[in-house]
Amino acid sequence: MKYFILTGASKGLGEGIALALIDPGHHIICIARTANQTLQKLAKARDCRLDFVSFDLFHTQDIPSLMGKVFDQIDQKQASGIFLINNAGVIHPVARVEDCPADQTERHMRINLLAPMLLCAAFIEKTLKVQAMKRILNISSGAAQNPYYGWSNYCTGKAGLDMFGRCIAEEQRDEQWPVQTMAVAPGIIDTEMQTAIRNTDDRAFIHRKKFIELKETGKLISPAIAGKALVKLLLSDDFKDGEVTDIRDSY
Ligand SMILES: NC(=O)c1ccc[n+]([C@@H]2O[C@H](COP(=O)([O-])OP(=O)(O)OC[C@H]3O[C@@H](n4cnc5c(N)ncnc54)[C@H](OP(=O)(O)O)[C@@H]3O)[C@@H](O)[C@H]2O)c1
Repeated sequence: MKYFILTGASKGLGEGIALALIDPGHHIICIARTANQTLQKLAKARDCRLDFVSFDLFHTQDIPSLMGKVFDQIDQKQASGIFLINNAGVIHPVARVEDCPADQTERHMRINLLAPMLLCAAFIEKTLKVQAMKRILNISSGAAQNPYYGWSNYCTGKAGLDMFGRCIAEEQRDEQWPVQTMAVAPGIIDTEMQTAIRNTDDRAFIHRKKFIELKETGKLISPAIAGKALVKLLLSDDFKDGEVTDIRDSY
């Protein structure tokens, strides 16, 4: 049995990833604030175990106990693979640095950076002795590499998560059963996050019109297509430990 811990599976890219993971040999444990009944029904129909754990990733102090509960569902002796996909994320606050309210910046960093860091830490700690394939996929963004006016929080959180994964790879490389890590930017996906970007104001985000144009000209990638490509990479030999990559050219 392969186990997948997936954050932000309720909609968007996370839903696309979950759809691609549905298989009788997989047990998917989804973490988000809301459940996705369509996914639950589909998984049931295809004889795949899929559980939703309701959790707000803002509450980072509760992540160790969350992961305790998640790992209670994982039969480590039967596991041929255990995977963590840090996909949940937010875009706001979108504003110039001096206009980002401190509480919104704190919220952003907790959800986009601190929560995935603590999930990785708990994952590594819980799987230390597990002799199976162990992989972490962090969903990154082109914004981790390129600064965007108005996106200081988002760019910083994604860049930080990229570097965190590279540090994990340094620490795990010589382990007999290492946890492998990869950060992947998926391209521009047609999700509610893109709707939120199109709904920002031009002064806060000067590239807003470009994102409207991408939507209107049909350039956005569907979450299902992106999800399939990410799952294929996660389970393949192309998963390169410690690397940060962009898969938009593979669609
Ligand atoms: N869309 C793009 O073009 C694009 C491009 C590059 C990278 N990405 C990355 O892809 C990932 C998914 O984004 P998306 O576009 O699919 O966004 P989305 O449609 O807004 O979905 C975000 C997901 O994150 C979850 N989430 C948000 N806040 C949460 C919280 N406090 N606690 C728990 N879960 C939370 C949401 O679940 P609930 O609301 O149910 O909690 C939802 O499942 C993000 O990391 C994003 O940065 C997206």
